[in-house]
Amino acid sequence: MLGLPAYADEKVSGSTRDRRISRSSPLSIRRRGFGNPVCSQITDIVAIDGPVGAGKSSVGRRVAERLGFAYLDTGAMYRAATWWAIENGTDLDNPEALTAITQSMPLYMSDCNGELRVRVGEQDITEAIRTPEITRQICKLAHALGVREHLVRLQREFSARQPTVADGRDMGSVVFPKARWKIYLDASLEERARRRAAQFAEKGLQVELAELTRDIEERDRKDMTRAVSPLRKAPDARVLDTTQLTFDRSVDAIVDFVREVL
Ligand code: DC
Repeated sequence: MLGLPAYADEKVSGSTRDRRISRSSPLSIRRRGFGNPVCSQITDIVAIDGPVGAGKSSVGRRVAERLGFAYLDTGAMYRAATWWAIENGTDLDNPEALTAITQSMPLYMSDCNGELRVRVGEQDITEAIRTPEITRQICKLAHALGVREHLVRLQREFSARQPTVADGRDMGSVVFPKARWKIYLDASLEERARRRAAQFAEKGLQVELAELTRDIEERDRKDMTRAVSPLRKAPDARVLDTTQLTFDRSVDAIVDFVREVL
């Protein structure tokens, strides 16, 4: 037990879990930073990192279900912070302002019958955080040190309370360096673009494959080359290349890996 405070307003009812990830809080972790000693302990965390479209969220969610672990989509947290900053008219080129607005975000993430719902205050922003505008602007927040420090603190608090599958870009390298299981989920660029196109098609949207490929490449480049917490494989992560794997085989591979070590 890591001695972190419990969430006073956590509700768990039926199959709907509603966890408040953050209350509006002026707390700063600037001085505790990423070397927080709570992270020096081995923890029951499956840390999944990887590039855009590798299937981290869909695979991660199913792995969590199979293991009975909580699931944490950290990309959704950066998306929610971006939505909140735009909603409040924050200057996206001002990292201090972005940090302050992120710290004020009353973020809730719920697991609703296997679907992630994201709320800020009373407003459901599950769909709103997936728009091209949010995706275009998100790097402004993902590159801001103070924003990352705040969200990392929430991620660590969340996972300290229950075994967790967490996916993102810096899970194994920065946020949970002592995670018991680390996976780097990868797939070829072509396959990732093809999967994304299929997801868009399911929503009735036609997107040109070449454009999608360029877009994915550009997002990966930004994630891999940024100064703060770039996407990289943690040295002790197991690589899972899913280019030739079905969704179910990818899930099985991670569940088997976890059970090997349990
Ligand atoms: O997983 P996603 O595509 O929803 O993530 C959106 C963006 O958020 C991604 O391009 C980079 C950023 N991100 C990050 O910097 N660190 C994380 N742990 C998760 C996401």
